[in-house]
Amino acid sequence: MASYLQGKSIAITGAGGGIGRAVALACAAEGANVVVADYGVSIDGRDPSSAVADGVVAEIVAAGGSAVAVADTVTTMDGGQRIVQTAVDRWGAIDGVVCIAGILRERMLFNMTEEEWDAVVEVHLKGTFTVFRAASAVMRTQGSGSLVGFTSGAFAGSTSQANYSAAKGGIVSLVRSAALGLHRYGVTANAIAPIARTRMSANVPQDLAENGEPEDVAPMVVYLLSDRARHITGQIYTAVGGKIAVWNQPRELRAMYTHGRWTPEEIETHLGATVGVEEMPFLADIERRRAAAGAANPVPSA
Ligand SMILES: NC(=O)c1ccc[n+]([C@@H]2O[C@H](COP(=O)([O-])OP(=O)(O)OC[C@H]3O[C@@H](n4cnc5c(N)ncnc54)[C@H](O)[C@@H]3O)[C@@H](O)[C@H]2O)c1
Repeated sequence: MASYLQGKSIAITGAGGGIGRAVALACAAEGANVVVADYGVSIDGRDPSSAVADGVVAEIVAAGGSAVAVADTVTTMDGGQRIVQTAVDRWGAIDGVVCIAGILRERMLFNMTEEEWDAVVEVHLKGTFTVFRAASAVMRTQGSGSLVGFTSGAFAGSTSQANYSAAKGGIVSLVRSAALGLHRYGVTANAIAPIARTRMSANVPQDLAENGEPEDVAPMVVYLLSDRARHITGQIYTAVGGKIAVWNQPRELRAMYTHGRWTPEEIETHLGATVGVEEMPFLADIERRRAAAGAANPVPSA
């Protein structure tokens, strides 16, 4: 079977470890030239080291592949530009970017500092923007390209990671906007919500109902980057173990109307029987767990 990404030039952020490394190795194995972009930081974003990106480049080259390291942070416009420009300078194009870089600063909302908020939003959301921004300008003139963002099931809400959840929700909206704005230029944009055993998932407090290996996530990314997936855009796919699932597209479910303007009293009278309230699945799970644990259930305060 022909290689899925033969001769394509692909930049992958966060490619030095975890899921990013697995995606980088898979892309190279499918014939892509790979920019291994990784700042080489700890799980909370500290102590950068270029050795992390260099290590994955060495692995790819040892396996007969083609790769170059960029040890910049994705949080600056210069960093995003350099990651994309490195591919263009070396291989003459940027066919795909995959924004996987991420950090965690876990804290309950009422205790979260400005620094904890900013650091997480900067790496995930701005770090996807800086790379999408630089890549989309080139892809627009090429008339082709694939943007892949990394969100999380936590975009639908998280008890103790409001910063992370908000950043991942922002990535969903950014991907959707990129899909709409770049459709006419032949550029696709999609998001992956992965689950895999990495140092990051080892830090999540609750047990994950589903889990798998970083290598299980990579084939879906390879497919989305390939010419076989040109018809797919604006989607969010879960990838975990042997499961791939698509998320729904947000849309209004029910409406109620009045002539003129609603009053609060009229809303109180009619809302429940018409528009109603949608169950929040995560909240229902929390309620069930609290009920099962009874009054002894500790209130999280971290
Ligand atoms: N592992 C999971 O179960 C899971 C679940 C949901 C979402 N995700 C998402 O998948 C992605 C990968 O997660 P992972 O578990 O492989 O994490 P990981 O911690 O193993 O890897 C993250 C990589 O990003 C790099 N990075 C961090 N900040 C950077 C920056 N400013 N610039 C460039 N690189 C930077 C790190 O050096 C690291 O190599 C993340 O976006 C994460 O939020 C993971």
